[in-house]
Amino acid sequence: MTKEMDLTHENVRQENMRALNGNRFTTEIPTPATPPVEEWNSEESAKLYGINTWGGGYFRINKKGNVCVTPQGKLGPQVDMLQLMEDLCERGIRPPILIRFPDIIRSRIQLLASCFSSAIAEYGYKGKYQGVYPVKVNQQNHVVSEIIKHGKMSSLGLECGSKPELLIGLGMIEDMSSLIVCNGFKDSEYIETALLSQKLGRNTIIVVDRFWELTEIVKRAKILEMKPRIGFRAKLESKGSGKWIESSGARSKFGLTPPEIVSGINLLKSENMLDSLILLHYHVGSQINSIQAIKSSIKEGARYYVEMRELGAPIQYVDVGGGLGVDYDGTGKGFNSVNYDEKEYANDVVSIIQSVCDEKDTPHPTLVTESGRALVAHHSVLIFNVLGVNELIQKKNEITVTEDDHEVIHNLFEIYEKISNENLHEFYHDTLQLKNDTHQLFSFGYMNLDQRAKAERIVWGILTKMYQISQGMEDAVEIMETLKQELSDTYFCNFSVFQSVPDSWAVEQLFPVMPIHRLTERPNRRAVLVDLTCDSDGKLDQFIEYEEKKHALALHEHQETKPYFLGAFLLGAYQEILGDLHNLFGDTDAVTVGINEVGYTIEHVEEGDTVTEVLSYVQYNRGDLVSRMRKATEEGIRNKKITTQEARQLMKNYEDGLSGYTYLEE
Ligand SMILES: Cc1ncc(COP(=O)(O)O)c(C=O)c1O
Repeated sequence: MTKEMDLTHENVRQENMRALNGNRFTTEIPTPATPPVEEWNSEESAKLYGINTWGGGYFRINKKGNVCVTPQGKLGPQVDMLQLMEDLCERGIRPPILIRFPDIIRSRIQLLASCFSSAIAEYGYKGKYQGVYPVKVNQQNHVVSEIIKHGKMSSLGLECGSKPELLIGLGMIEDMSSLIVCNGFKDSEYIETALLSQKLGRNTIIVVDRFWELTEIVKRAKILEMKPRIGFRAKLESKGSGKWIESSGARSKFGLTPPEIVSGINLLKSENMLDSLILLHYHVGSQINSIQAIKSSIKEGARYYVEMRELGAPIQYVDVGGGLGVDYDGTGKGFNSVNYDEKEYANDVVSIIQSVCDEKDTPHPTLVTESGRALVAHHSVLIFNVLGVNELIQKKNEITVTEDDHEVIHNLFEIYEKISNENLHEFYHDTLQLKNDTHQLFSFGYMNLDQRAKAERIVWGILTKMYQISQGMEDAVEIMETLKQELSDTYFCNFSVFQSVPDSWAVEQLFPVMPIHRLTERPNRRAVLVDLTCDSDGKLDQFIEYEEKKHALALHEHQETKPYFLGAFLLGAYQEILGDLHNLFGDTDAVTVGINEVGYTIEHVEEGDTVTEVLSYVQYNRGDLVSRMRKATEEGIRNKKITTQEARQLMKNYEDGLSGYTYLEE
């Protein structure tokens, strides 16, 4: 505590003492004012949470104030998500539930294919478009099957980044015209399997990611007496943009440098295999948020194509990789959004490659994209329930200050009484200082817990009052934002960030989160969402509100007797496979829901992990654990620490627990 502060405190204390004159002095700390409920409606909620922008037309709010899913847009069939959740719970499917909507995947595939066919028609491009879906983005059988089913019309193939993914590709793709693009680091077995699949008639292309692979392909192809189908991945100098910028540039992990490309072409020439080199590939990163970065990579990629053709390589396919981003926050700026749409992306790929080719009179190649995120992100949503709330601001917070209270309490009380828009900034800083003093006094034994609690309640009261005052002040925006965050509640939620939304923890990616019901009601609380793990990082504290990033989410008051469901949206890309078992929270229940004119069909239910399953991943055996527990309870009975009935109950709980869900079941 500074000397100056001491003096101020003493003056205030003496003044307070005079005012109190030995009496008890009581005040009531207010909650932030809640405007009348009728001022609010579902359009207001839509604006607040931004659902009409990041929802991409697949999610909106219906008249009842519930989120509904509309895979075919506003006029198509729709499903009320609250109704769906209630139906699922009635069937014994437990929150948290991951809900997949394959109709959204179909719509995304059609959208991308139609953007390319329109661009090809508009520019008079002479090649065609043939996409591949990168299996790594979501390898779930249901997702890959839907991709193959709905991608048939446009011969959508698969991109495989590893040996296991190649085995999925070979097992799942039956259409001989669909491409199977083999990327990633390869060993001899990977290469041999891919070559044999080419002999079988599959449209497999082995992309050389490092020079050794080329020599191995040539060696194996000679043994198998076949002409391999080869692609080269070029290491572009053009950088992507956003979080995965390191996927590009001269020091990126994959691809061949210009000298390696020239040596590779010479090697193939000398082996009389140059006609095997049919594809050029590059990839400058996922979620590229700037169209300028995309354009410059296409330009450089197209130059590689024409130059490799000049060197005699009969390349037919230019594979521009992934990178097509998703608008996670609807703002059109920053890493979580994109400053372009699918149409602009397709127009740029087609027109830039066409103009670079035309300059050199080079044939227009077949265009391949490896968009995964853009195809599957929208299709899955995690719905979880709120278990309880820790409200910092009590509704009624009566505080009595007496002569016996510590001087810091009197000083805080003084601030509380005298705050106005004239002194807001000064008193805000004084309050923070006094809060810190309280902490110091408590730590050094000069203040007891009761006094500390009282001081803290007054601090919350001051901050609440300051928040109300700051709302009308133009020069208090910064304080208001800080206060909003400081005064936010904590909503305890039934999910694990690490299992279901891992990128929000790993790369601070923002995923849209909002209530799926009560959206005609004004949300009058602000909260940070914490998960079930014992990890302080296990929380969501980045949200979108009126197109601005906020650290607390506007929510409705939690009612103990009614479920309150929140949805985390756009989780279909990468999240399922990157999710981990932190604190042993396993896979959630997952359902696949088809939507049609008459309603919806639950097409598939995957039960989440049981505790026994999760324990087996870390090498615990159920039988072994149960028999150890039984031995311990028998010993307890013998030593009279526990009765037989108690032992039986304990064993029942133990075995039920092992068979149960890893999440909380209410
Ligand atoms: C080679 C390759 N292709 C495609 C993708 C998928 O890209 P996106 O996430 O932009 O769909 C990736 C992922 O980074 C990749 O490494």
